[in-house]
Amino acid sequence: MMKRTHSCGALRLGEVGQEVILAGWVAGRRDHGGVIFIDLRDRDGLTQIVFNPSLSPEIAALAHTLRAEFVVKIVGQVGARPEGTKNTTLATGEVEVLASRLEILNPSETPPFPLDEEGVNEDLRLRYRYLDLRRPLMAQALKARHQATLAIRRYLDTQGFFEVETPILFKSTPEGAREYLVPSRLNPGKFYALPQSPQQFKQLLMVGGVEKYFQIARCFRDEDLRSDRQPEFTQVDLEMSFIDREDIYRLIEGLVGAVWQEVKKIKLPTPFPRMTFQEAMDSYGTDKPDRRYGLRLVDFTETFRASTFKVFASAVATGGVVKAFNAKGLATITTGQIEELTNLAKSHGAKGLAWIKVEKGEWKSPIVKFFSEAEKKALTEKLEVEEGDLLLFGADQWVAACEVLGFVRIQCAEYLAKAGKCVRDARQLDFLWVVDFPLLRKDPEHPNLVATHHPFTAPVEEDRGLLESDPTKVRGQHYDLVLNGVELGGGSIRIHQGEVQDMVFRKILKIPPEIVTSRFGYMIEALKFGAPPHGGIALGLDRLMALLLGQESIRDVIAFPKNARGQDVMSGSPAEVTSRQLKEIHIQVEGAGSLPTS
Ligand code: AMO
Ligand code: AMP
Repeated sequence: MMKRTHSCGALRLGEVGQEVILAGWVAGRRDHGGVIFIDLRDRDGLTQIVFNPSLSPEIAALAHTLRAEFVVKIVGQVGARPEGTKNTTLATGEVEVLASRLEILNPSETPPFPLDEEGVNEDLRLRYRYLDLRRPLMAQALKARHQATLAIRRYLDTQGFFEVETPILFKSTPEGAREYLVPSRLNPGKFYALPQSPQQFKQLLMVGGVEKYFQIARCFRDEDLRSDRQPEFTQVDLEMSFIDREDIYRLIEGLVGAVWQEVKKIKLPTPFPRMTFQEAMDSYGTDKPDRRYGLRLVDFTETFRASTFKVFASAVATGGVVKAFNAKGLATITTGQIEELTNLAKSHGAKGLAWIKVEKGEWKSPIVKFFSEAEKKALTEKLEVEEGDLLLFGADQWVAACEVLGFVRIQCAEYLAKAGKCVRDARQLDFLWVVDFPLLRKDPEHPNLVATHHPFTAPVEEDRGLLESDPTKVRGQHYDLVLNGVELGGGSIRIHQGEVQDMVFRKILKIPPEIVTSRFGYMIEALKFGAPPHGGIALGLDRLMALLLGQESIRDVIAFPKNARGQDVMSGSPAEVTSRQLKEIHIQVEGAGSLPTS
């Protein structure tokens, strides 16, 4: 039999009368009084094939043996489907192919789950990922990802970028996540680390005069996993010399625009709006605000400075703030949900979560008895309180109060969405640059200040004088790209003078000199050999694709992702290795006595 003439998504009324050859998988089989219908699937679509025993009894008999996921090739004539049997939901729904020949290329075991069913257990899908990938949604995701990366490469090429590969076997880097280590056989007791990002290499490429670098780069971070985090993920990573922040904004707006244009045929409005970190935290309680809905945080510090409600007044007295927001229309909240919100607040370090329900003209809350008329009036005015509202409060130091209410706000939006009162339309695209981050921040797990982005980020020029005297006031030349409340990317203009980088490591981050030398000595040295001013950014490609395709989880846009426990359930990785393998790389595992020896 000859090769295919068309894909299973190709045939239309224009081909009626033609003889065609199709190949693909049996997606479904129906027997209508001896006439067998199958839906033939390939990555392009579905075509209905008809085997009519009155035309060819042998082929119809063979068709009778077909089962789900058999691979077949058919020859047949394209016919228009009779009126009343057209399928308007299918691209090929106006035609069918009347088969004259059938070849079974390979039978299939019964699939462990029906490929056309929604809501199949994810581990089962991942265990048989090669079957899962046959599902149209997955096929479309892979296609869109290919289109997106192609558009990115084309766009960056037109902008003068070179694609350069950088090592995967690397060394510990300071991006902040835990690293994957790889023991070295040739260097006993020494380890490579897999890169958290190509950060240092891309800066070294700038020192090397490459000027404009990019890479669709695989990155590795041993973090606790979530729906938007994978242990290995992909960045669209880039770096440029002789530029400032505005150049990066323009370039990335163009790049993201090219992707949406290519995959969605949508022209994105640019430039993207910008918001300072301060404003994002103040109004949304997060550095990645989702502005598709309101529920903005409002400051009531002055209102409660002298309040008789001690929880609020004492927070203010100790230099803190009182913030609140109106979860509009959420007075219907259940006691259980209030408890959930309180636990959420506490899990983020709050001592409690004060709330007020406005029902039947009354303010209902255990704390409302402490509030004066003036306080109530201020709340009513600034929060535009109406019947049916729910007010939520945070009293703490500024960052803590904002962050806690930020999480509570997101959860309230979930509740409101469920109740049909707050619609976060996934088709609405809320792109936002968050800028003017503090260069440094306090970290409860760290005695000294840590870099908000990473230690290579340059301070904002006019704040530079404060670096040693008042470091937490210094803003960094750091920017994040946010889409619908998800951090899509981040980057910065870098420190390009070796002395300044050295000073930041030693004096500001207070990293011991021997560690600075062993971990970053080569970077500091490189910057001293005429490093050009430079900066860059990395976009999370998996997150970008998930948002582009409206998928909840980045696992649905990755061909072979790890599950939530970091495992590949198909191949069974991570897995044990033999004691011989371990010996070769000079590793002893506690309790490894039972390992196979070869
Ligand atoms: P950053 O650490 O902000 O910056 O990472 C950039 C983007 O990568 C994505 N991302 C992830 N995606 C999936 N799974 C993960 N575990 C994961 N971690 C991060 C996010 C994030 O915004 N070298 C710097 C960039 C620079 O300064 O140029 C960096 O890696 O979308
Ligand atoms: P308490 O006086 O500790 O019983 O708190 C009274 C109310 O205020 C309870 O509803 C607490 O959940 C709430 N609350 C306590 N501390 C805070 C805080 N730091 N921010 C907001 N609400 C709080």
